[in-house]
Amino acid sequence: MLIEKEIHSEFWFPQQIIVSQDLKFEKVKSKFTNYCKKTQKEDFKGRNYSNCLGWQSKDIMSKDFVFEYLQEFINQSLSSQFNLKPNTNIRIDNFWINISPKYASNDYHVHNGSHYSGCLYVQCGEKSGNIKINPNLNYNTDWMDFLTEDYKNAYHIHPSVEIQPKDGMMIMFPSYLMHKVNNNLENTERISIAFNVSFL
Ligand SMILES: [Fe+2]
Repeated sequence: MLIEKEIHSEFWFPQQIIVSQDLKFEKVKSKFTNYCKKTQKEDFKGRNYSNCLGWQSKDIMSKDFVFEYLQEFINQSLSSQFNLKPNTNIRIDNFWINISPKYASNDYHVHNGSHYSGCLYVQCGEKSGNIKINPNLNYNTDWMDFLTEDYKNAYHIHPSVEIQPKDGMMIMFPSYLMHKVNNNLENTERISIAFNVSFL
């Protein structure tokens, strides 16, 4: 039976992950590393959220050079990738340090209460642990396995994505996206600075 028809697809709900790279990060890396290690020394207990084996600082309240750097880098990255309405302000709600020795990881979590969240990678290697973002964690996404790779890539239909961090890379994503950090398999510590931002 030939059905008279009109069929089309509508693609909604894209997730925008913004990846920025400071091309001259090597020049400031030791300053950032020292800052993170000094903060750890001052509060070795830190706090426990999603971190397994790793150390996480409490929220850093001072408006120091790291705050200034983050504000600048976040602002430039978001305003270059979004078409923001005039007079939109971007506010850093909070930021904190993660130091993960070998085998440390972070469990799946979301950052409630903010708009965008992200991370600046200060020290990592190839096997320091990818960030895995999975908005479909609690859902059956097996049907995606039946789609061709070309189709999946063309329309961004994936259950999750993994991004390999690099020194000086900043990754930002909507705060409601579930994400985790895989185990650090390097012998060196993985050091990163995470943050939440809101638009005002
Ligand atoms: Fe996180």
